[in-house]
Amino acid sequence: MTTLLKSCVALLALVGPALADDAARVAAVTAWAADFTAPEPFEARPAGAATVAQFAEPAANLPLTRRMDFTLGEALFEKLWVAAPTATRASDGLGPLFNARSCAGCHPGDGRGRPPQSAAEISGMVLKLSGADGAPHPVHGSQLQDRAVPGVPAEGALTLAWEEDTVELAGGEVVHLRRPLARVTPELTPGTQTSLRVAPQLIGLGLLEAVAEADILAQADPDDADGDGISGRAARVWSPAAGVVTLGRFGHKAGAASLRDMAAAAFSTDMGLSTPLFPDPAGDCTAAQTACRAAPTGEDAGLRDGREVSGDTLDLVAFYVENLGVPARRKVADPQVLAGKEAFYAAGCPACHRPKFVTPRNPDDPARSFQLIWPYSDLLLHDMGPGLADDRAEGLASGREWRTAPLWGIGLTEAATGHPATYLHDGRARSLLEAILWHGGEAAPARDRVAQMAPETRAALIAYLESL
Ligand code: HEC
Ligand code: HEC
Repeated sequence: MTTLLKSCVALLALVGPALADDAARVAAVTAWAADFTAPEPFEARPAGAATVAQFAEPAANLPLTRRMDFTLGEALFEKLWVAAPTATRASDGLGPLFNARSCAGCHPGDGRGRPPQSAAEISGMVLKLSGADGAPHPVHGSQLQDRAVPGVPAEGALTLAWEEDTVELAGGEVVHLRRPLARVTPELTPGTQTSLRVAPQLIGLGLLEAVAEADILAQADPDDADGDGISGRAARVWSPAAGVVTLGRFGHKAGAASLRDMAAAAFSTDMGLSTPLFPDPAGDCTAAQTACRAAPTGEDAGLRDGREVSGDTLDLVAFYVENLGVPARRKVADPQVLAGKEAFYAAGCPACHRPKFVTPRNPDDPARSFQLIWPYSDLLLHDMGPGLADDRAEGLASGREWRTAPLWGIGLTEAATGHPATYLHDGRARSLLEAILWHGGEAAPARDRVAQMAPETRAALIAYLESL
């Protein structure tokens, strides 16, 4: 049997002949694990029928008729854009201000970015900005662009300084933690609010987009009514693609509602390219930036909706990102991994890193319909304490809140990108243990349980995370 067929059979077995009581079946299958002596059914296949072998592969159940669109989207994701004007026209319009020339430049191998080793490196890290009042910065807009087309000054160079700290764990292990501080030359005006972000991994995002809003909201507990110390707030954001205010799911503070919105925002802010959703060809350059405003654009009334990136091109890039599969788990039945899974539950990690969802039935989108998925995220915002805070609100998300990072595929970070793995929104953690030890706020009790674990239990927890 092909793996695809096997998954279909498996899903049927899961669903059973009667489809009437979906809700009860979904509740049963998404309940927390209680037995840690063996893996749960389907646990090894985190994206259901969309599960693949490694990063950057199309969802295994993507119909053959759509593979060409995926491949075209991939080429556009990797395409290097150039400054206007050029003879080729279809590839120009980069900038005037930009951070990178391609999506792949920041999301290498569809994996995550990392903190830059020097100001010259394009590493997938950006510095979000706002003025003292929280509105976009009056001169630099919403992000520092450290590159520009010829004749236009870049906004500044970003380098990092590191603040170090140490933590001692039960058993005597000492862990060194480091936190990045952004240094911009020339210096930003006093009072500027900043937020360092690395590009997240891009896997399984179409499935996260398919999760029913009601299933996400069901876990939200904004005022911690149940008194478990974990709140969880839903982000509400304006969606340019849908034209409504809706649930935010993407970005480290859940600032984007859909993948089409996110891709269009990336074209505009990270690369200075206009789309039908963000029609300004000068991207993030403000009225105060006259050289940027006066630079030639790649827009062309006769071409591509008149935008630098047409609606069709945007759709293909969004389609690519939507249909990236999630790699299968490794070592699910390994005794150490199972012990680590038990430790994950005992420490309270699933309260935010929600293991499972079932996507709603959708006859128009069979590939994403009624799939049991294992993202290990509730897609909600949590107060993670002062250590992780950027002190810069974004929409409803406060300066201490972050969206729970999905953990699927996290053990393959290094394999995907080819560079040493770093974790958390700004890539400060050099190991999974460091990432856990930075948890504070609502997650402080979970962190403390990890610090107090016997060394072999802690090692099992890490082995479990590496198997995801
Ligand atoms: C300059 C670096 C850079 C470039 C270029 C870039 N991204 Fe990103 N990407 C980021 C960062 C940083 C984030 C996190 C943003 C946030 O926290 O709001 C991100 C977030 C995302 C997300 C959300 C992932 C999630 O888990 O929520 C998607 C999807 C995405 N980018 C797609 C794209 C696409 C498509 C392109 C090209 C059109 C692109 N990116 C270009 C840096 C980049
Ligand atoms: C209160 C909610 C909450 C709890 C409880 C929690 N986490 Fe997290 N976790 C988050 C959030 C939010 C982030 C993203 C933080 C950031 O990027 O700054 C995160 C990030 C992570 C990351 C880094 C992910 C990445 O892609 O870089 C790991 C690993 C992780 N958590 C593991 C754990 C483990 C293990 C536990 C249990 C000991 C745990 N978390 C408990 C909310 C939580």
